[in-house]
Amino acid sequence: MPFHLRKHCLSILLIAGVHVSLAAADSNAKGRDAGKIYAELCANCHGAKLEGGKGGGLVGRAWKHGSDDASMARSIRGGIAESGMPGFAKSVNDAEAAALVTFIRETATRKVDPTPKTDLPLPKGTQHSEEHDYRIETVAEGLDVPWSFTFLPDGRMLVTERAGRLRVIENGVLRAEMIGGLPPLVVKDEAGLMSVVAHPDFAHNHWVYLSFSDPGDDDTAMTKIVRARLQDWELVEPETIFSIPKENYQKGHVLFGSRLVFVGEYLFFSVGVRGLEEKVTVDAQNLAIANGKIHRVFHDGKIPPDNPFVGRPDAYPSIWSYGVRNPQGLAYDSSRQKLWETEHGPRGGDELNLVKRGANYGWPVVTHGMNYDGTPISEKTEAPGLESPVIHWTPSIAVSEIEFYSGDKFSKWKHQLFLGSLAGQKFLRLAVDESGVTHTEEIFKNHGRVRDIKTGPDGMIYVALECIGKLGKIVRIVPAVP
Ligand code: HEC
Repeated sequence: MPFHLRKHCLSILLIAGVHVSLAAADSNAKGRDAGKIYAELCANCHGAKLEGGKGGGLVGRAWKHGSDDASMARSIRGGIAESGMPGFAKSVNDAEAAALVTFIRETATRKVDPTPKTDLPLPKGTQHSEEHDYRIETVAEGLDVPWSFTFLPDGRMLVTERAGRLRVIENGVLRAEMIGGLPPLVVKDEAGLMSVVAHPDFAHNHWVYLSFSDPGDDDTAMTKIVRARLQDWELVEPETIFSIPKENYQKGHVLFGSRLVFVGEYLFFSVGVRGLEEKVTVDAQNLAIANGKIHRVFHDGKIPPDNPFVGRPDAYPSIWSYGVRNPQGLAYDSSRQKLWETEHGPRGGDELNLVKRGANYGWPVVTHGMNYDGTPISEKTEAPGLESPVIHWTPSIAVSEIEFYSGDKFSKWKHQLFLGSLAGQKFLRLAVDESGVTHTEEIFKNHGRVRDIKTGPDGMIYVALECIGKLGKIVRIVPAVP
């Protein structure tokens, strides 16, 4: 089947019957660098560093004319009558106004809340949060970018180190021995060994599922998923669950996605857009390409016949939903039977999404983010037929794994969503109901880049932390009073 048909120069996409123009794919529509526009048109009144002048500062300001993206863009293009704020409709187009809004928000946040250069030691003793007091205990230290972990029914934990090692934590000790039989993989930038998940019936079948960066020719790579049986310290009988033809692998060592989640008889997994971070492609919109998608297969990798695009000659049959960028978080809420996803935006535009069958999440046709060089990606943040995020973060916090707490040690946290971030080093609690996210609380921050979160069989919340400039660790959140 002619999968992975590449379409170049795709400047107009037909989505849900509407034509949507894609700024990034059409150089004529591409706006100018927001930082340069700011310096040229805005700095004289608002200050070179947004600190203010006759126009007042744009940092830490209580917005008088509306704080949402659309209102701010309106202030910029329309001006504010009789206040001294000129309208820039003639010199700044819609895309550029949207990029200026992102630029202002991003610069402002960087000043107020700079990305921490390091992580702080874990706090000692009882910590307080809105609903529960807790303590943070160290489970294991000395892990090189612990990307994910899983619990085995015998009490052991398996942990991936991105550098390409599968480790065992047994009776609270990180074992020095490594599990053998891993597939060959690329380790560079974000590439390496990523998710590990034990099969729900591991006790009987010993299946361990792994996602990783598979090397292709000429320095290319792609997300691949295998399963193998764990026999003592060795993975045996490997089977491929997901891979694409090597000729379709792309250069770049970023944007792999790579989360795995079992839901009933299915395995869901996320695949990032791949390629180079600074070069936006429309692959996520193309159903003939596996990149930039959430997929659904049976546990053995076979295609469920009721997948949304099965039977279409131009579509990858494992696709469940599409139009995502770099989905590094995937979690199933068993209490409400809903699948959730998080994805990294470029600069700005990190998203939390509810994953629906066959739905299009819009990357890069709609986004709250901008290019790394400050130019706009799209003038639109939403469009008919495209799913909007439940929440988005601009500037980015580098949103990573999510987990619905399913234990019984923290009664008020049951079925709430816990969310981690990398650059932002945040560990957040999101109260969720049928309508979406009703409340957000920062439980802790600056203790490392949060790579993975899982409810343990003991009801505690386990968190993998990548520490900066040193080895990472796994910690567990336990009730303050046992
Ligand atoms: C000639 C001076 C001047 C220039 C140039 C200027 N501004 Fe303003 N701007 C102002 C003043 C004065 C206000 C305050 C209006 C008020 O408080 O009612 C303002 C208000 C704003 C606001 C709304 C603030 C709020 O509280 O809602 C935004 C956003 C803004 N400016 C962005 C920009 C951007 C972006 C540019 C460049 C494209 C720019 N301004 C250029 C003078 C200027």
